[in-house]
Amino acid sequence: MGTRIESNSSLWALGFFFLHYYIQTIDIVACTLQAGLAKLIGLAGETNVQGEEQKKLDVLSNEVFVKALVSSGRTCILVSEEDEEATFVDPALRGKYCVVFDPLDGSSNIDCGVSIGTIFGIYAINDGVDPKIEDVLQPGKNMVAAGYCMYGSSCTLVLSTGKGVNGFTLDPSLGEFILTHPDIKIPKKGKIYSVNEGNAKNWDAPTAKYVEKCKFPQDGSPAKSLRYIGSMVADVHRTLLYGGIFLYPADKKSPNGKLRVLYEVFPMSYLMEQAGGQAFTGKQRALDLIPTKIHERSPIFLGSYDDVEEIKALYAAEG
Ligand code: AHG
Ligand code: MN
Ligand code: MN
Ligand code: MN
Repeated sequence: MGTRIESNSSLWALGFFFLHYYIQTIDIVACTLQAGLAKLIGLAGETNVQGEEQKKLDVLSNEVFVKALVSSGRTCILVSEEDEEATFVDPALRGKYCVVFDPLDGSSNIDCGVSIGTIFGIYAINDGVDPKIEDVLQPGKNMVAAGYCMYGSSCTLVLSTGKGVNGFTLDPSLGEFILTHPDIKIPKKGKIYSVNEGNAKNWDAPTAKYVEKCKFPQDGSPAKSLRYIGSMVADVHRTLLYGGIFLYPADKKSPNGKLRVLYEVFPMSYLMEQAGGQAFTGKQRALDLIPTKIHERSPIFLGSYDDVEEIKALYAAEG
């Protein structure tokens, strides 16, 4: 039987506050599920700093999260995929947490009803000092919490505050998240690889060799299955629960890969490590990366410990 979330610290209180606003966002997502009725599908007519055409829900969910986090009185700096600059919270409302977030991940899947989600990471800074942008340009290992909420067949929140990973499912009749996946541990090795094979012609040698090994194993083991949804939150959630590896490598077109360090790579890498897996950039442990810009990108290979070890060995052999 799941238990309700108990808040026992200001961090949990922020997490709890987040949840409360998730529920508000769920209403938005509920509209998504009736998107055609709620006129929430389609483009907002703007382009974001990423050079992406923003969807209406990108803009709407961003507004909900920024308003919620500012009015929580617990945050000092916000970095959102959808805002070119960081938001510095007014001193009157300032708290000690810096929140980096992707308000709506998987936007390309909104209009076809495939799972989408929200991804976030939280840094704590010393209370009372004036926040500066360097406070969010920290390695991911310094995060005090990270998580995601996936809006799919159910609304699932996966959260870590540095002591393992727990999964909660929204019970809409209660308006509460119930602990349904206590102490998630990723299988040490998996049978699934998850990558956009359409980029294969642009991959570097270690990635190409690894994917070849997944498809044509030389040791007589069965080939891995390919599963790729195109929403990081859904691909990572499946990887966390079933095991395997998720890859968004660098390629000739995107030498730093596509995924953003602060609000996609770090939170998902943090969760993977907390669940017994690992996360690698092709050069180093992902959580050791120190970003220099808030929308910086990085290649990422994350998932089951043994699967990521294999690709690390191929990059090491490449030298
Ligand atoms: P977002 O919708 O927040 O911009 O993120 C999209 C990301 C991520 O969700 C997914 O893993 C990746 O884009 C898919 O990229 P490709 O379509 O290039 O495979
Ligand atoms: Mn986007
Ligand atoms: Mn995203
Ligand atoms: Mn997004």
